[in-house]
Amino acid sequence: MVTRIASRLDVHVHPFHSRDLDDVLAIEQESFSEPWTRGMFEAELLGNPFARFLGAFCHGEMPPAKRLLGYICYWVVFDELRLMNLAVRPDHRRQGIASHLVRHAVEEGIAHGTTRALLEVRAGNRLAQKLYQTLGFQQYGRRRAYYTNPNEDAILMQLQLAENLQP
Ligand SMILES: CC(C)(COP(=O)(O)OP(=O)(O)OC[C@H]1O[C@@H](n2cnc3c(N)ncnc32)[C@H](O)[C@@H]1OP(=O)(O)O)[C@@H](O)C(=O)NCCC(=O)NCCS
Repeated sequence: MVTRIASRLDVHVHPFHSRDLDDVLAIEQESFSEPWTRGMFEAELLGNPFARFLGAFCHGEMPPAKRLLGYICYWVVFDELRLMNLAVRPDHRRQGIASHLVRHAVEEGIAHGTTRALLEVRAGNRLAQKLYQTLGFQQYGRRRAYYTNPNEDAILMQLQLAENLQP
């Protein structure tokens, strides 16, 4: 599927694969204080039957033909959709790419029969919490000292999928 983001960028959302990992890792390392490693991504890509992966790609006319702008990793586990990882290239943030990726993941979760989407986010990551709130997620709990580097609580958020995403 192709969507025009912020009225000027055509973004194609489709699964990413092991061959995209160099690009994924570059964004991951710029985005997190404790980034997933190549081994962690490979374990998910190759060894986790519940795991799914979507990338937002910008397809240019000249080689290199496409560029990864962001990605989302999520699990479809019976009736639950669990958002595991989400990041957007720093120079392409605030253009709706993350929202677009979450919507795709939720649509896929609904298509596979999930009824609830869940995620954990650092208590200090207010931008991400705002993003999820704009999509309709609500806080339902807090897990003390869940994260390290820095030590931080996790905010637990959920979206009842029967209620649908906010437009
Ligand atoms: C959080 C992150 C994924 C958001 O990606 P994005 O593509 O910029 O998000 P969107 O453009 O879809 O933003 C959607 C909404 O989230 C909120 N938001 C996102 N970034 C924001 C910012 N810098 N300041 C204020 N609000 C922000 C806004 O409500 C925004 O809607 P608006 O632009 O219409 O006001 C991105 O900043 C990122 O990769 N951060 C580092 C990794 C991370 O924190 N991942 C989430 C882990 S749980």
